[in-house]
Amino acid sequence: QFSSNEDDVLDVSSATNSIHEAISQESWYQQTLSVVVVGASGDLAKRKTYPSLLKLFEENLLPTDSIIYGYARSCKSHEEFRRHLLPHLKKTGTNEIIVKDFLSKCYYHSGKTYGDKSAYADMIGDGLVPFEESTKNTVSNRLFYLAVPPDVFGESGVVIKTHGMSTTGWTRVVIEKPFGRDLESCDALLQTLSENFEEHHLYRIDHYLGKEIVQNMLMFRFSNSFWEPIWNSDTIESVVITFKEPFGTDGRGGYFDKYGIIRDILQNHLLQVATLFAMEPPKNEDADAIRDAKVEVLKNMEILSLQDCLLGQYDGYSDDPTITNKDTNCPTYAAIRCKINTPRWTGVPFILQAGKAMDEKVCDIQVRFKPAKSFPSMRRSSKNFFENAPAEMVMRLQPDPCIFLNLNIKSPGLSTMPTRGNMVMRYEDMPNLSNPDAYTRLLLDVIRGKQGSFVRDDELRFSWQIFTPLLHDIDDTKVRPLPYRYGSSGPANREAWMAEMTKSVL
Ligand code: NDP
Ligand code: BG6
Repeated sequence: QFSSNEDDVLDVSSATNSIHEAISQESWYQQTLSVVVVGASGDLAKRKTYPSLLKLFEENLLPTDSIIYGYARSCKSHEEFRRHLLPHLKKTGTNEIIVKDFLSKCYYHSGKTYGDKSAYADMIGDGLVPFEESTKNTVSNRLFYLAVPPDVFGESGVVIKTHGMSTTGWTRVVIEKPFGRDLESCDALLQTLSENFEEHHLYRIDHYLGKEIVQNMLMFRFSNSFWEPIWNSDTIESVVITFKEPFGTDGRGGYFDKYGIIRDILQNHLLQVATLFAMEPPKNEDADAIRDAKVEVLKNMEILSLQDCLLGQYDGYSDDPTITNKDTNCPTYAAIRCKINTPRWTGVPFILQAGKAMDEKVCDIQVRFKPAKSFPSMRRSSKNFFENAPAEMVMRLQPDPCIFLNLNIKSPGLSTMPTRGNMVMRYEDMPNLSNPDAYTRLLLDVIRGKQGSFVRDDELRFSWQIFTPLLHDIDDTKVRPLPYRYGSSGPANREAWMAEMTKSVL
């Protein structure tokens, strides 16, 4: 193990203390904060947004003068809404008194639509403004979190602009994925939002950018000098980024059938992970320098077509009552091969694969190294061994974040034959580790004004440019995804496809 000795590892608790100390000195921490969760009656709000806000509250990472309004069309009183949230907040394991204190800061307001001006005027005029004026602070900041389907991002943006902007502090708008269905719809959304906001107002969230292993990518790559000389096509044969979930649409079939696994996971979460893995060192650590480096990767990625892709659909998918088109060709599994034509990566296939209703919950990056060329005393049997089992590194995002190397070593003892050995770094082995949910980290970044882990408009356009022709082909040609059994590892020919596609693409 890299870190089996407790004395060797970073004192995680002191790092956490110093972050709290730094935050308590930041100006926003002494100012008033109003949060509005738009779509508060929905799935994301109850499972992620509110539990993350609770975590920040519990950790004293929200200003003392904070208020949280939920907005949606469903009609509920403040109390009904608090009762609706309670079981989800309890699941976090937070002390009941803290949950109660947190809920006393939560209010709810309903309107006819997400563009309902008079409902917004009432919520702001009767709820936010009196609270903001009641605090002693001269500055009040506002954060709007759009936890609604993309069809209503536009109208929500318009009404926030006309009725919701803070007049004394900042206003920030968090926008969920998927940001459109293709390049055209993405452009239309970008246009509507840019008519109302500047880029510094907008935080396009991709929660994979908040996962520990992903947040660690720059530090891991660029602060250990030995990686840079080998992090390229000289040494790396292929990179496979995998997402698997052991459940199907789980009541979200109505949404899922309109989008499919490529728009749900590959075009955003996995592509974002790939760009951080593949990018050149950024000029500095500024949000824009990091995003400039990611954009360079996307600019050099080849546009995808059906030939680069394997599609699957699990048996029984269309039995979900929320899916109306029973003949749907919506893929629930997809693997695609991407090519990045930069000097660093030419010839190295990047495979992104994602599936619902599969055999396990996992997300990882598997880096396969080229077989060693010059091992002098390699006998025939050893040569085959090395070719069939090249060294690899796995960066596992979930379920248990860790990084491990599978290496070739001599069999221990008298034998000189090769075998495999592991070097593992597990986060759970670190003492006093606090590993907050991705949404908690990213919400804190929004409040602190750190945009580096959010998706910039040009990044988004390039990512849709890469995927749109493939997505249109799937929609237009009505290509049938291959069937696979619920709970299996995907379509029958998945392994053969992988073996073919992970070969060098020179
Ligand atoms: P929901 O389907 O639960 O929608 C949220 C709320 O929006 C609903 O409670 C409903 O509230 C309102 N709503 C639903 N459909 C429509 C519609 N067609 N027109 C207008 N209002 C509607 O979505 P989620 O909470 O699951 O997701 C919200 C956003 O977050 C989406 O963009 C989604 O893609 C994204 N997301 C979701 C994740 C998840 O795990 N759920 C994960 C990552 C991203 P009411 O009827 O009360 O107005
Ligand atoms: C969301 C997708 O963005 O990510 C869901 O819409 C998926 O379909 C979820 O289940 C997975 O997130 P996580 O953090 O549980 O891996």
